[in-house]
Amino acid sequence: MKHRKRIIAGNWKMNKTASESQTLAGEIKRELAECSDVEVVLCPPFTSLAIVADVVGGTSIKFGAQNMHWEASGAYTGEISAYMLRSLYCHFVILGHSERRSYFGETDEIVNKKAKAALAATLTPIVCVGETIEERQAEKHMQVVRTQVQGSLAGIAPADLKKLVIAYEPVWAIGTGLTASPEQAQEMHAFIRSVLKEMSNEDVAQSVRIQYGGSMKPSNAAELLAKPDIDGGLIGGASLEAKSFVELVRIAQQK
Ligand code: PGA
Repeated sequence: MKHRKRIIAGNWKMNKTASESQTLAGEIKRELAECSDVEVVLCPPFTSLAIVADVVGGTSIKFGAQNMHWEASGAYTGEISAYMLRSLYCHFVILGHSERRSYFGETDEIVNKKAKAALAATLTPIVCVGETIEERQAEKHMQVVRTQVQGSLAGIAPADLKKLVIAYEPVWAIGTGLTASPEQAQEMHAFIRSVLKEMSNEDVAQSVRIQYGGSMKPSNAAELLAKPDIDGGLIGGASLEAKSFVELVRIAQQK
């Protein structure tokens, strides 16, 4: 099997002022500045990107945004482009998070435009997919995730597909304290890899890192990360405190 470097990303959502972000990033940096076996990514709100860049600059910790617009510039009041993010040395951008899909009407088509624009600007998209509880109960979860993966990544060349990260986040597990069982998550991650293979080839399917997200915390991370197709975590609640986030990275460092 291909070696995929684990990736633990903190999605701070709409939390932390610039000075709170400076403190949190500083605490994380003290513990993880030298961490090179796991990719560590902080995704603060836009208003904290510059200060986080300042704090983690020169370390192995990377950072990213939580959203962007697909156009490079123009009359889009309130929006931020991929080039603006790159100009702050962002490496990553979370796209199609379920909160954006459900509260802000983001469709697979929009996520697809954003993913292409991010890749063109050399940003690494973390493309989020995941089913609702109703969809799982109706046993439609595989079909739903297949449609999201195919739609969000349509028309992206294999060489670019290899660069991106996918986050499988069952909507019913986000911020709820409920977690997919390691078996449920593994089943979906392996399925996503099979969809990637259909869309491109085995090499791409084995190269793309697939994170799990949804109430991942130190108490359940080891079991999830032990599964062969789970390559890391996209962490919400547990990323807002240095202690739990650092602990998650330490767990990911164990083989
Ligand atoms: P959670 O959020 O860890 O708080 O469930 C994960 C996410 O929404 O990315």
